[in-house]
Amino acid sequence: MNAANNAQSEKKKIIFSGVQPSGVLTIGNYLGAIKNWKSFEEEYDPIYCVVDMHAITVRQTPADLRRRTYETLAVYIACGLSPEKNTLFVQSHVPSHAELNWALACHTMFGELSRMTQFKDKSAKNAGNINAGLFTYPVLMAADILLYGTSLVPVGIDQKQHLELARDIAIRFNSVYGDTFTVPEGYIPPAGMKIMSLQEPAKKMSKSDENVNASVAILDDRDTIIRKFKRAVTDSDTIVKKADGKDGINNLINIHSCFTGKSVEEIEREFDGRGYGEFKLAVGEAVADALAPVRSEFDKLMADKPYLESVMKNGADRAHYLANKMVSKVYRKLGFVARPR
Ligand code: TRP
Repeated sequence: MNAANNAQSEKKKIIFSGVQPSGVLTIGNYLGAIKNWKSFEEEYDPIYCVVDMHAITVRQTPADLRRRTYETLAVYIACGLSPEKNTLFVQSHVPSHAELNWALACHTMFGELSRMTQFKDKSAKNAGNINAGLFTYPVLMAADILLYGTSLVPVGIDQKQHLELARDIAIRFNSVYGDTFTVPEGYIPPAGMKIMSLQEPAKKMSKSDENVNASVAILDDRDTIIRKFKRAVTDSDTIVKKADGKDGINNLINIHSCFTGKSVEEIEREFDGRGYGEFKLAVGEAVADALAPVRSEFDKLMADKPYLESVMKNGADRAHYLANKMVSKVYRKLGFVARPR
């Protein structure tokens, strides 16, 4: 092993993930992703991106996209990701993402992209705008990941297929051009973290649900949170206990457990004989209590754009430094002539 490799192996492994600045983040996003990210910051070198370039695969209102980009960064920080321990940046600030995207697109098969279930779903939903970007979206995602020599990618189960494609692209590229990319592993949160809709508890909670009572946003205010939980759909039984077929109650017990850290058994015991109404109120209060500090930190951050911009700048500087090295390496391997200086 040479000196460079040695230095490399002493470095912490990279963890990378991204969130699109489109739409409000739900407690599902919070529990399934961002909340856990904090636990990686000692062991790994974490890089989290606001993937604005991915967001435009679906038509966005420019002013909303701009505001949500700030908001998504503010949510990262408000959820406890300190900019000192985590590289936080905006995708479009680092041109390497677009550069590697092209190189990888030329090593990704039409057939592979055609098999992506999210493309099929999204093109059914956006029949009027099935653009090429929607189709090649997973290639840009692979570029995001592979640019940084990422080892671990925390993502929701819905992104598993995209992650596998990123691995396939990395393996293919390495086999043609020699060892270039780290082949990333996915980190899919345990099933308990899958948060279901409050209105149709057999369906995943989604930020794009048309029924506003179906999902709870990280930034909803206390009254809204409690009201949505009070209206949560349950069943005709009255006992607060997990069981097959009690999707609504199972989901509420999970949510309560995730936010309070109590076990399912503890919760069942606590609400023994107390009925659904009381339980739903308690879940709402637990969620509202847990999110109150996130919300107030978020409000503070959003009132301080210069601070958010300094985080964006520092994050992009570091990300660009790392990513640009990878692009140069890839260009060299592909046979591109280096720009004479
Ligand atoms: N596609 C992801 C999503 O919609 C977001 C994303 C883009 C991402 N690039 C990424 C996630 C890289 C992990 C790693 O949720």
